[in-house]
Amino acid sequence: MNAKDLLSLSPVLPVVVLHDAEQAVPVAHALRDGGVRVMELTLRTDAALEAIRRVASEVPDVVVGAGTVISPDQAKQAADAGAAFLVTPGATDTLLDAAVETRLPLLPGASTVSEAMRLAERGFDTLKFFPAEASGGPAALSAIGGPLPQLRFCPTGGITPTNAPRYLALPNVGCVGGTWLTPADALAARDYARIETLAREASALTAEART
Ligand code: 3PG
Repeated sequence: MNAKDLLSLSPVLPVVVLHDAEQAVPVAHALRDGGVRVMELTLRTDAALEAIRRVASEVPDVVVGAGTVISPDQAKQAADAGAAFLVTPGATDTLLDAAVETRLPLLPGASTVSEAMRLAERGFDTLKFFPAEASGGPAALSAIGGPLPQLRFCPTGGITPTNAPRYLALPNVGCVGGTWLTPADALAARDYARIETLAREASALTAEART
């Protein structure tokens, strides 16, 4: 799988923040049962690497990646834990070098034309547009597509079920990313049925936006 294929797995890439690795498998099952077979576990908590390890080994029908990768060490640790892809909120040369070393598909973050051009120069054609809403939203991303039509994006940051269709309608958007499928209150209550419902609604966003 390359980074472009990653964007075709689901209209929404769930960005998941887990504080308890025990929740990793039930959350992966809930997303899958709602039709979403991909998840990004963010390395913002101590539980994240163990959570990736569990989903990678116990839920083979969900593609699990690591998000919020901001250091070379994290790129390596995520790969060792079994992550199938890496997502970074921005990009530095040392981080990119370490990510390339893992040979995993990478979605490097960019929010400006120059950042996107630098990444394209290094051979990356599939990027995370972050923070999407704060960086100008669909209008900005559409404008970036003018000079850089070869690039595909996963906009993330401030995306909701309401504004997602506006991004999904853009030709340079493959999917959107967001935390709304796994809200903190649902996780705290271990309300996996709610996560499944949110995933089901998110899977339907493609059809709404693209038909
Ligand atoms: C990310 O790292 O992608 C963002 O934190 C997503 O956050 P949001 O969907 O809650 O805006």
